[in-house]
Amino acid sequence: MGKKLRIGIIGTGGIAGVHMKAYKQFDDVEIVGGADIVPGKAKAFLEQWELPEAKAFNSAEQLIKNVEMDGVTVCTYNTTHAECVIAALEAGIHVQCEKPMSFTLQEAADMVKASRKAGKILTIGFQPRYSYMRKKVDDIIASGALGKIYYIQSGGGRRRGIPAGTFVDGKKAGYGCLGDIGCYSIDQCLHAVKYPKPLTVSAIATDYFGKNPKYWEDAESFDVDDFSVALVRMEGDVTFVFKQAWAMHADSLGDTLWLGTEGGIKIVNGFDYANKPSRVMLFTDVNGQQVDSYVLPSHPFNAYEGTQENDPFTAKVRDFCDAIIHGRPAPIPGEEIIYNQAICDGIYRSAKLKREVEIEMPSFL
Ligand SMILES: NC(=O)c1ccc[n+]([C@@H]2O[C@H](COP(=O)([O-])OP(=O)(O)OC[C@H]3O[C@@H](n4cnc5c(N)ncnc54)[C@H](O)[C@@H]3O)[C@@H](O)[C@H]2O)c1
Repeated sequence: MGKKLRIGIIGTGGIAGVHMKAYKQFDDVEIVGGADIVPGKAKAFLEQWELPEAKAFNSAEQLIKNVEMDGVTVCTYNTTHAECVIAALEAGIHVQCEKPMSFTLQEAADMVKASRKAGKILTIGFQPRYSYMRKKVDDIIASGALGKIYYIQSGGGRRRGIPAGTFVDGKKAGYGCLGDIGCYSIDQCLHAVKYPKPLTVSAIATDYFGKNPKYWEDAESFDVDDFSVALVRMEGDVTFVFKQAWAMHADSLGDTLWLGTEGGIKIVNGFDYANKPSRVMLFTDVNGQQVDSYVLPSHPFNAYEGTQENDPFTAKVRDFCDAIIHGRPAPIPGEEIIYNQAICDGIYRSAKLKREVEIEMPSFL
């Protein structure tokens, strides 16, 4: 075997372990270092994963300066993604950054600029892109079978699912539910239609569950959104209705929908539908007859989330490695996810200001 890919991990908290588990499966990759601003945390993390040769540091800058690396995975909380990503790119290192891309749109723009200037990969960690069913829906929509798509709606949400730790700390996470699972919903809805340019957003965000001790243990320090809803006007007369919840008194915020002039796709959400073959429906018109059909999973086991052998999380980490090894473009490019970030940024601003806001995409895109 040739030279192994040298990888570092910045931010050695919860999700870093999942990245490490994936990397450890690859014979052609070695973890050469880790960094965390909590003194001793990176060292303990590398020890836990039995990597005595890997070097631990208390800052991303020290890791980048002292260890030769082909790529880094940035697993810090949201508000420090940008500084770590940009430092790595400026040092000529490829980056996989956890989702959401950043907190603000400006940070995302700076990240993309740094990636272009360095000529290095900036890929964002949206593992649902590797789910079998997600790929099927994306393929059908990309085929043009739905005609001109004019309305898209996100759905789903959690009945009780407020996460703990830095997710509910506004200074560290920036957003709450919006940045945690909202960014996935946006990507599910808009990647399939190649991310039209967002123009305006009118949004509302609330915190009725996080702020209520009946539903959340540390209600006093909860300072992010647990629910948000938005109307996003997009280029090409496309309307996007966004909804997401960490907690609610319902099993779902409704179906995920793409409506086109020739057909529609509906993903039914809620308890009863999690893994049902009848979950994804295609509506169309054949020779004047209305036809409804199901998009069936081709894999018999856990079709919506992948399998033990090929889980989406491992797939995203492998794809990053392969992009570096084979000189391929970023698998989930920052240049695309910046559109996702622009919508999150717009929803956040609109909800704070309690009015519609414009979204200005950076002119260099
Ligand atoms: N893709 C997924 O399924 C998934 C799941 C969970 C979390 N995440 C994302 O991963 C990120 C981290 O989440 P987590 O649950 O691991 O959080 P965490 O708080 O457990 O870990 C973050 C770590 O980053 C460290 N850190 C912060 N700023 C740093 C800096 N400038 N330099 C070095 N270290 C720094 C913190 O000290 C902490 O140890 C978040 O952006 C989150 O949205 C993704």
